[in-house]
Amino acid sequence: MTGWLAVAGLGPGADDLVTPEVQAALAEATDIVGYIPYVARVAPRPGLRLHPSDNRVELDRARAALDMAAAGRRVVVVSSGDPGVFAMASALFEALEGAPPPDFDIRILPGITAMLAAAAALGAPLGHDFCAINLSDNLKPWALIEQRLRLAAKADFAMALYNPRSKSRPEGFARALDILREECGPDRLISFARAVSTPEQALNTVTLAEARPDMADMRSVVIVGNSATRRVGHWVYTPRSAAP
Ligand SMILES: C[S@@+](CC[C@H](N)C(=O)[O-])C[C@H]1O[C@@H](n2cnc3c(N)ncnc32)[C@H](O)[C@@H]1O
Repeated sequence: MTGWLAVAGLGPGADDLVTPEVQAALAEATDIVGYIPYVARVAPRPGLRLHPSDNRVELDRARAALDMAAAGRRVVVVSSGDPGVFAMASALFEALEGAPPPDFDIRILPGITAMLAAAAALGAPLGHDFCAINLSDNLKPWALIEQRLRLAAKADFAMALYNPRSKSRPEGFARALDILREECGPDRLISFARAVSTPEQALNTVTLAEARPDMADMRSVVIVGNSATRRVGHWVYTPRSAAP
């Protein structure tokens, strides 16, 4: 059997936001590898082996997937959203660096990332220049997060903030909100989008003055507007031209 490896994005949650390309790879796979809640999104079937693992073992998971593909298995490593956005595709290449070149096919299959699903649900808050910042300090120091937030605000980027708040570091997001208030002022719009595209989806847009840390959790992506972002009806949008 010829093995292959695909790193696939399952999208933000809804089944109809999984791309046909990813569905086809899942249908052909012999093995599914990934973080426990993401593997749980793949329907079991006879002959399909599921390999769920805990958070923070991305490199081990990538190495195990490479070994399986080398042994002839058809392996899909699953991520939520897009696999290249704060997810498993980079971990795979990290595992490949310095290793002998694989003699099997490797593909990265894109998915709909949380910020784009959230932006669509809200309207078009990312309609002009924007950036994405992961607020988790697992893999980088908090000082770097603060610096990037400040510089993005000074450059008037809209921002999508991933991993905004976990139980283990609740103070980080409060600090991020303080920095944004300092740099952007109290009237800037900020949207909290939770569990987008699932039955638990919740959207809430407020000003920075009204924003509280407990409005976000680890199932939320937070979108901060730029200086021109505004409301139209119940929607939020950012004009395509820069503010004068
Ligand atoms: C480890 S990152 C993975 C991001 C993923 N690769 C993507 O492209 O969306 C997990 C973070 O993505 C965001 N996220 C993932 N799915 C989401 C959803 N359905 N609604 C809101 N935020 C989501 C949250 O900020 C969560 O803490």
